[in-house]
Amino acid sequence: MKSLNVLVTGGSGFIGANLVRMMINQGHNVTVLDDFSMGTEDYVRDLSVNIVDGNILDRDLVFDVVKGFDGIVHLAAQTGVPGSLRNPYNDCQVNIMGTLNLLEACRLIKDKSSKNMCPKFVFASSNAPLGRQSPPATEDKVPIPISPYGASKLAAESYCLAYYGSWGLKTIILRFGNVYGPFSKHKTSVVANFFNGMIDDGHITIYGNGNQTRDFIYVEDLCRAVLLALDSELGGEIYNVATGNETSITELFKIMQDVSGDLAEINISSPRQGDILHNYSSISKVQKYLKWNPYINLRTGLKYTWKWFDQNREAYN
Ligand SMILES: NC(=O)c1ccc[n+]([C@@H]2O[C@H](COP(=O)([O-])OP(=O)(O)OC[C@H]3O[C@@H](n4cnc5c(N)ncnc54)[C@H](O)[C@@H]3O)[C@@H](O)[C@H]2O)c1
Repeated sequence: MKSLNVLVTGGSGFIGANLVRMMINQGHNVTVLDDFSMGTEDYVRDLSVNIVDGNILDRDLVFDVVKGFDGIVHLAAQTGVPGSLRNPYNDCQVNIMGTLNLLEACRLIKDKSSKNMCPKFVFASSNAPLGRQSPPATEDKVPIPISPYGASKLAAESYCLAYYGSWGLKTIILRFGNVYGPFSKHKTSVVANFFNGMIDDGHITIYGNGNQTRDFIYVEDLCRAVLLALDSELGGEIYNVATGNETSITELFKIMQDVSGDLAEINISSPRQGDILHNYSSISKVQKYLKWNPYINLRTGLKYTWKWFDQNREAYN
């Protein structure tokens, strides 16, 4: 893959911090656009990246920044179901209008440039748009979101598809599984929650009976898929990026205790509103068209993740 000029929105968040490192290691030039509302500049400060401190809702800033890139990876978002339930307007603004600002900036470049310098656009989505569908999640199922987060991601996906359909922007939508790995201390996802709980006070909370399932993917595997999507000539496509394996929260917790050697105490709490009960994804489409496969199994990925949490007990607080 030749060296690319890439803009990563949300590049100082969990996935961004891992992706940016992989990109730099592979010789790409990276610019991060982040408002540091969730991520921290500490995750990227020492890297050789350009950092733009700004909000994707600031249209003038976005139009100004989005110039001269081969690709954009759009990660910046209101990233979870609970936040969307607390403040659906904010979720809608950031996830839909923020995405539209970036797509518009790309379209205007395409209109103005005789050289068609419009960047490829990779959009970070999730299974939340699918909502009330039985697993496995496939890309062709009709979405039935059950949370504002699912609705806003679905709307943003639709705009990505529409910009390909109307103007030929090479947009690729990646529906991520449940991502875990280093640089996730600030997250409230289940793996980050459990490791943080083990480190902080030895208590972790399980919502519901623990039988609910997720498809857990290690962040390094995920980042490889993002790079393949950037390199692809395809557009207007949706791919699931997960492992195809279903793991219950109880099973996950056992492996986490094993790799950390930490015997945390469990608090059981009522199930969270808007959470999907059972979930895993079919990955045959991404395997076929992006030639991507996950390599890191759950136990190994959790070992790497625990090592990072353990080594960074005092950092990033
Ligand atoms: N982590 C997962 O398991 C998972 C699963 C499915 C989809 N995703 C998607 O992947 C993307 C990245 O998620 P993450 O887990 O790294 O989350 P994160 O919160 O760690 O990163 C998001 C980054 O976006 C930044 N940001 C938020 N609002 C912004 C705004 N208005 N302007 C500029 N920057 C803003 C935050 O400061 C943060 O650094 C998100 O779009 C999320 O919805 C994540």
